[in-house]
Amino acid sequence: KNVHYEKSVSSTQELAHRIASEGGEEGTIIVAEEQVAGKGRLGRQWYSPIGTGIWMSMILKPKIPPQQAPQLTLLTAVAVIRGIHAITGLNCDIKWPNDILLNGKKLVGILTEMQADLDQIQSVIIGIGINVNQISFPEEIKETATSLRIEKGKEINRASIIKSILENFEELYEIYLKEGFLPIKIMWEAHAITIGKRITARTMGGSFQGFAQGITDEGILLLEDDLGDTHK
Ligand code: BTN
Repeated sequence: KNVHYEKSVSSTQELAHRIASEGGEEGTIIVAEEQVAGKGRLGRQWYSPIGTGIWMSMILKPKIPPQQAPQLTLLTAVAVIRGIHAITGLNCDIKWPNDILLNGKKLVGILTEMQADLDQIQSVIIGIGINVNQISFPEEIKETATSLRIEKGKEINRASIIKSILENFEELYEIYLKEGFLPIKIMWEAHAITIGKRITARTMGGSFQGFAQGITDEGILLLEDDLGDTHK
């Protein structure tokens, strides 16, 4: 398989975009020990110190319409949860759309980006950031972030987690390409803590409060506002 291992990069996501546009194949993985400009959702930064976490991006070339790309974020979340569980025995929860929490604190972030024309995907780049062996966090995220090391009380081998996540991903991706999103959606819902609750959804278009009703077949959240209207 096609794995790029780097000591230090600005962002594995950026490097993956470049490799993808230069003909990088489906299944190409970029892993780095450190990111000096790790990217989070909504233009945020992602704290990616050296040697402690899993900072990884994956290139996919699925033959699906661009509006279905969010489904792959949900699929990835399930693969990550299963991979972490297989190695550590820990059970994580999904907070829509892409946060994975352990004991209520953020353990994993997933960032899905696309290179696409109007109606055709060139590549989907899925970035996965997992806090593995950190024992402390910067002030701004101290209260809200956690690591596997903190929760488990011992150091965790990053390579075995990566391997297990990729095995789970491959299995789910095959199901997805063969049978569509429905089986994945059912697995995702089993881990999601957001559905059925009042939440604030933050998007590029602003923040929206409402009652999370479920997800659409595209993998998009359905939010009921205070007037009883439903929004995607
Ligand atoms: C989030 O905001 O929750 C998403 C965080 C995604 C972080 C990962 S780490 C590997 C990849 N490279 C990046 O720059 N970001 C993603």
